[in-house]
Amino acid sequence: MIQLPPNYAEPLPSAFFPSSAPLPFSRADFGPDFHWGASAAAYQTEGAWQHQGKGPSIWDDFTRRKGTVRRGEHGRVAADFYNRFETDLDLASGLGLSDFRFSVAWPRVLPEGTGAANRRGLDYYDRLVDACLERELNPWLTLYHWDLPSALQARGGWTNRDIVGWFADYSQLMARRLGDRVQHWCVLNEPMVFVGAGHLLGVHAPGRRHLGAFLAAAHHATLAQAEGGRVLRAALPATARIGTTFSCSHLTPQRPGNAYDEAATRRADAVLNRFFVEPTLGLGYPTAELPALRWLLDRYQRPGDERRMQFDFDFWGVQNYTREVVKFSPWLPLQWAALVPARQRGVPHTDMGWEVYPESIYHMLRQFAAYPNAPQLIITESGAAFADVPTAGRVADPARRAYLQAAVGQVLRARQEGVDVGGYFAWSLTDNFEWAEGYGPRFGLIHVDYGSQERIVKDSGRWYRDFLGGQALTGDCSKNLRQLEKKQPE
Ligand code: FCB
Repeated sequence: MIQLPPNYAEPLPSAFFPSSAPLPFSRADFGPDFHWGASAAAYQTEGAWQHQGKGPSIWDDFTRRKGTVRRGEHGRVAADFYNRFETDLDLASGLGLSDFRFSVAWPRVLPEGTGAANRRGLDYYDRLVDACLERELNPWLTLYHWDLPSALQARGGWTNRDIVGWFADYSQLMARRLGDRVQHWCVLNEPMVFVGAGHLLGVHAPGRRHLGAFLAAAHHATLAQAEGGRVLRAALPATARIGTTFSCSHLTPQRPGNAYDEAATRRADAVLNRFFVEPTLGLGYPTAELPALRWLLDRYQRPGDERRMQFDFDFWGVQNYTREVVKFSPWLPLQWAALVPARQRGVPHTDMGWEVYPESIYHMLRQFAAYPNAPQLIITESGAAFADVPTAGRVADPARRAYLQAAVGQVLRARQEGVDVGGYFAWSLTDNFEWAEGYGPRFGLIHVDYGSQERIVKDSGRWYRDFLGGQALTGDCSKNLRQLEKKQPE
């Protein structure tokens, strides 16, 4: 166990929690079975991009292209987690986490995407899982967190329907190898992000900007999501819990009561929050208010697909960072809706430009829990990016601490209203490579110096440790959020 220095700061005074979050509260209010963890992903942390037989991924290729990532950064070394996972997991267990979520890099275990497995890549994940278990951290394994093998991209990647079979084989390989020790599985990480940002907006790998590519990738991801679930169910012991994760944001119209903005908000909700969720329930795509999208998607569907898109997940991973404000837009066909950036609205925001709005997590939990047959919900990612500067070996990050505290309070609020939410994972254990934004935004509970790879547990990490150790939260986040407000808007 790593020893952390004594207390981080003065207790937070008085009472601020958005809306009706219960105060005071402590870990015990969530019950003994609640999972408390932190999340990470292979490309963002591992580095070792050409080590021990790993094949290239679309993120290795994308980051090599000019103008794709800020400052030309890439994940070739990242947080060097591949070589440092044991000490990073020591830190995780020092924080008192019960769970740790990571992803497998598909091209590390299958350099060509299909066919011959790379023994050394599989051995690495073996050691990682064993290292979690030795520290009493439950491993949560995500099969796909965006780093598709380049060899499969050369065959069309997500736009090729064959990917459903490629992904099924890869899922089977991992289930056979690690199913005796990994109990929690996430099939995909945020399909709307890798499909939308990668195939329509072109800002993530593989950097496509093409409506047809987007629609094909979307449909194949929906099929792979369910097929992955079926493969895992067949290959894993009956005690395994199989889920998948969704990005989501609570949406509000820019002009409440305005019919155009209200309708635009409903359409954006269908695309951003419901698109990959409802097919798993057998409801098909939520296109009632998006007739053009339905017509276009039909071109990629085959008889029987509605059934193939269905899978009875044991949990849904809810990943929430902000809310979005929506207005009608005549410029964005299909959706006829645009998101109004937080900077433009003059509200406090993080280094990602995302509004600080912890209540969003509560609203999304309520929204997902409202589906008949919704499975258990797990917050598989929640966090905030703020600039952190180590001073004399310490990282004071009051805004992140306030954000996490408020978000956890909102989870409890939903839980006390009867929502079946069974876990909270902070994004992220350590600072890491934030995709197109590079190393600028820092999300970690643990600071990483990318020059020396030195780690420092931030005050937010210590706050989490104390909370997990039983300390009650009575505190006031408003002070920290107000300080943030003073610095912003720019
Ligand atoms: C989510 C991603 C994760 C991380 C956070 C900030 O969309 O799943 O990898 O980048 O955002």
